[in-house]
Amino acid sequence: MDQTYHIAEAQAVPACTVVIFGASGDLARRKLIPALYNLRACGEAMGPHDFAVLGFARRQMAVESFRDQMRDAVAKYSRLELDDRCWSDFAARLDYLSGLDQPSGFERLRMRLEHMEANYTLPPNRIYYLSIPPEAIDDTVARLDEAGLIAKPGAPNFTRVVVEKPIGHDLESARATNRTILAHFTESQIFRIDHYLGKETVQNLLVLRFANTIFERMWGARNVDHVQMTVAESEGVGSRAMYYDPAGALRDMVQNHMVQLLALIAMEPPVSLEAEAIREAKLNLLRALRPVARGEAKTLVVRGRYSAGTIDGQRVAGYLEEQGIPSGSRTETFVALKAFIDNWRWAGVPFYLRTGKRMGARESLIHIQFKEVPRILFNRTGVLPANALTLRIQPDEGFSFGVLAKQPGLGVTIRPVRMNLRYQSEFQGPVPDAYERLLLDVMAGDHTLFVSASFVEQSWAFVQSILEQWASDQSIPLNDYPAGTMGPVAADRLIQAEGRQWLSF
Ligand code: BG6
Repeated sequence: MDQTYHIAEAQAVPACTVVIFGASGDLARRKLIPALYNLRACGEAMGPHDFAVLGFARRQMAVESFRDQMRDAVAKYSRLELDDRCWSDFAARLDYLSGLDQPSGFERLRMRLEHMEANYTLPPNRIYYLSIPPEAIDDTVARLDEAGLIAKPGAPNFTRVVVEKPIGHDLESARATNRTILAHFTESQIFRIDHYLGKETVQNLLVLRFANTIFERMWGARNVDHVQMTVAESEGVGSRAMYYDPAGALRDMVQNHMVQLLALIAMEPPVSLEAEAIREAKLNLLRALRPVARGEAKTLVVRGRYSAGTIDGQRVAGYLEEQGIPSGSRTETFVALKAFIDNWRWAGVPFYLRTGKRMGARESLIHIQFKEVPRILFNRTGVLPANALTLRIQPDEGFSFGVLAKQPGLGVTIRPVRMNLRYQSEFQGPVPDAYERLLLDVMAGDHTLFVSASFVEQSWAFVQSILEQWASDQSIPLNDYPAGTMGPVAADRLIQAEGRQWLSF
C-alpha cells in the first residue's frame, strides 16, 4: 500500500526566460547555473522545464567562453552528473550578453530577449535574477523600468524579480532598497530569496511541527528548557573577501538564515499553508523577538574571528591572512547569542544561536532540549538527562529523539538512546537542491518560500540592536578561535553559565 500523502501538487511552470544579472559571479557559477541545468534535466525526474537562460554581466565575453565556463561549473557543482546530451540541450538555450554597466546595455538586453524568445518560441515571461551587489540594485531596477522591461501585473505575461541577500547593510539601507524595488515592481512580482528556506530539512520543520501531534503539544515554555541552533561551516572566507569583510557573520548568516530558522521553529501555527499566512506567522514571531537592549550585547552576544589552525589535517590561514582582507579588519567570522521571545508560548525560554566559518565541522542543527522529569522515582538524584529532539539540517539530514530506556538486565540501569531518522536511509529519489526548488517556485509564481519586505526589516531591527553596540562600545571583545575548533571559549561560557552546553550531532 502506498503510504504517502500528497498534500499539494507541484505547480504548473510556464515557459520563460531567466536573466541572471551578475552572471560572471560566484553565485551563478556555484548555484544558479547548476540548479537550472538540473531543472532542465533533459527529460529526467523533475524536468524538462521549458526555459532559456541569459547571463548578463559587465564583462565582455564570447558566448562560447561563457558556455565553457558554465559547463565546468556544472561539472563541479551540479547535483546531477554532467551528461553530454543534457549539456548540449541546456547550452543551446544558454546565452550571454555584456554591457550591464553600459548606457545602451538595457536596450540591448531588450533586443536580445526578444530575439531569444522568437528563436526558442518562448512567451515573454521574464525572470530577472539580481545576483549583484546591493548598491547596484537601485540603478538596475530603474534601468529595467526605463527600458520598458517590466510588464505590469495583470499583463498576459509576467515579469518577476529575484533579489538575493544581502538586502541592505543595516535597517535603514534595507528599508531604502525595499522602497526602491517597490517603486518599480509590485509585491507580487518580487521574490526575496533566502536559500535556507529551500532546503528539504527546513521545509520538513513545518511538517514535523504541524503534522504530528506529539511535538506541537510539547512546544513551549511549559516543557522546553532551551533551544539551540548551530550553523557551523568548515569553509573559510575563500575568495569572497570583498563581500564578506564589510559584512561579517552577523549580517551574512544571522540576519537572514538563522532568523528564518528561528521563526520557523518558534512561530505559532499559521492559519493555512498559503504563502501569506505563513509569512504572517513568521513576522509575528519576529515581532516578539526581544531586541538586545543597550548595554546587553556584552553579555548576550559573543563575536569571534578565526586564527590559523587545522581543518581535516590541513593547516589553514587565519582570517587576517586570507586573500583580500584588510590588515586592520575587525570583522567577526563567528557569532553566538542568547535570545528571548516575549510571547506566551516562549516566555523565559532561552534560544542560543551560533554560527561561524572555519569551525571544526560543517554541521547545521536545531536542538530542542526538554525539561527534566521531576526529581522523584528514577530521577531522585537529578542525574538523568532530559529528552531532546535534534533536527539535523545538514549534512546527514534527519532528526533524532533522545529518550531514556532500561538496559536489559536484572538491575535497573537506565541508558540514553536515540530514535534516529536519516533521510538517506528512509527516502529514495532525488533531493532537489535548495536553489532548484526556489527557482522553480519563482517560475510558478509561488511566494511561500520567499521573504516579505517586513520580515527583512524586522530581522534587521534585531541585528541592528547588536551592530550599534559593537560600533559604539570598544570594550566588547572580538574573541579569537583557532580554525578547526567550535568557536571561542567565550561562546561556551555563554551557554555554560546556566549549566547548559553546545551540542553536536
Ligand atoms: C550564504 C552565505 O548565504 O550561505 C555564505 O553568504 C555561507 O557565507 C552560505 O557559506 C551557507 O550556505 P549552505 O547552504 O552551504 O549552508
